[in-house]
Amino acid sequence: MAELYSKAETLELRRKHIGPSCKVFFAKDPIKIVRAHGQYMFDENGEKYLDCINNVAHVGHSHPQVIKAAVKQMELLNTNSRFLHDNLVQYAQRLTATLPEELSVCYFVNSGSEANDLALRLARQYTGHQDVITLDHAYHGHVTSLIDISPYKFNQLGKEGKKEYVHVAPSPDIYRGKYREDHLHPGNAYADDVKKIIEVAQKNGRKIAAFIAESMQSCGGQVIPPAGYFQKVAETVHKAGGVFIADEVQVGFGRVGKHFWGFQLQGEDFVPDIVTMGKPIGNGHPMSCVVTTRPIAEAFGASGLEYFNTFGGNPVSCAIGLAVLDVIEKEDLQRNATHVGNYLTGLLKEQKEKHPLVGDVRGVGLFVGVDLVKDRQKRTPATAEAQHILYQLKERKILLSADGPYRNILKFKPPMCFSKEDAKFVVDQIDELLTDLEEATGLRTRNGLSTNVQYKRKVPTEGSSQLDCLSESINHISGSACRQENGFCAESHTVPCKRIRT
Ligand SMILES: Cc1ncc(COP(=O)(O)O)c(C=O)c1O
Repeated sequence: MAELYSKAETLELRRKHIGPSCKVFFAKDPIKIVRAHGQYMFDENGEKYLDCINNVAHVGHSHPQVIKAAVKQMELLNTNSRFLHDNLVQYAQRLTATLPEELSVCYFVNSGSEANDLALRLARQYTGHQDVITLDHAYHGHVTSLIDISPYKFNQLGKEGKKEYVHVAPSPDIYRGKYREDHLHPGNAYADDVKKIIEVAQKNGRKIAAFIAESMQSCGGQVIPPAGYFQKVAETVHKAGGVFIADEVQVGFGRVGKHFWGFQLQGEDFVPDIVTMGKPIGNGHPMSCVVTTRPIAEAFGASGLEYFNTFGGNPVSCAIGLAVLDVIEKEDLQRNATHVGNYLTGLLKEQKEKHPLVGDVRGVGLFVGVDLVKDRQKRTPATAEAQHILYQLKERKILLSADGPYRNILKFKPPMCFSKEDAKFVVDQIDELLTDLEEATGLRTRNGLSTNVQYKRKVPTEGSSQLDCLSESINHISGSACRQENGFCAESHTVPCKRIRT
């Protein structure tokens, strides 16, 4: 039995001893997971959940080859990287072989936040500048230096949140952003905005150290930047004396299928100056890495300060990292990401044809987003509906999250062993839930789409039917603040009707 305490006791102890800002998924009805395997998680009662959330368990939960590598090395030795060890250099060699040649020097650290914080230090030391350009809605980590450059977080602090050295460029979102799919060259237009930001900053005497962006924005709403955008941005940033940091913490290690790294979607002519990695790198083991060019590494070393990290690059972490790379290769997971990802995106695009609530479907490999809207013309975010779907999916034993500035983007980032059957199962459930929602809100009649494209809410009345009950639930969710990381409105959910289809 994997449980030490009953679920109620676990919850109670958590309330007592864990900081209140550490949230749980599905706050009104949290899940206790006691084991996991592949793309499935199991609760204390043995109920099996399909995991569409955990991009950290990249090659699958509890992968035996990864576990074996960890145990084998732990039995032998674990110590810091001031001792010579072959795992460290072998892993650095293997990892840099996946990257363009220029990116040849590694710093091993322990979390995505540590990686991005170190990337900022490298950039500042190399350029002698301070300022950072970040994308709107970006999240780069939880340490002070990164909250400062994460509008996803600092916007919640009001006007005081943004520091003087931080400059926010528009998110290159061609569905919801400033320049959309009907623009002739959205990539150029978004890059021109970065150029203008630099010009204004320089006029004010500021100096740009770095532009930082996820290769595809995750928390920002599963945004896939238009091709050519990064090249143009890098050109202007370099002219200003800054460097380009690609944050691959969420999206790296083959998730995009065709390429190993997300930034490679922009084309072979684009090479960032610094790449940060995390989450999937250790399949759940806390490790991460910063890779950069020789000149940047030399400049960092020239300061004379030693860089020492107690746990970064230890032999166990490196053994695990090597095993993850082996499994990606051996199980052809990049190809799986392409095949299953294309299939999933295709199924979801069919849903777009069928359901007015689906505004946009975008995906590359197993990085897929569905933008839910109340009104297609106005692209009004359907936040409450997205939250309702998440909770209903949970009832059906599927774990999915929603994210983006309005938390209305259904966000798929499952383990890379996700199968076509899994994809079909989850999309079928979403199809049913969307149909229910559309019927409940007047977007659809039982016989087909409503002629009224405006979003109609049913006002719940006494003796409400099941569909009215659903409307009520949506109204309730809409009224609440919805600002939780990981895409859940922690405090705002009610599950009024378990099953409303007959
Ligand atoms: C894009 C991105 N960068 C950095 C981080 C920070 O990583 P960690 O939580 O491992 O510190 C995250 C975490 O969610 C992330 O999504």
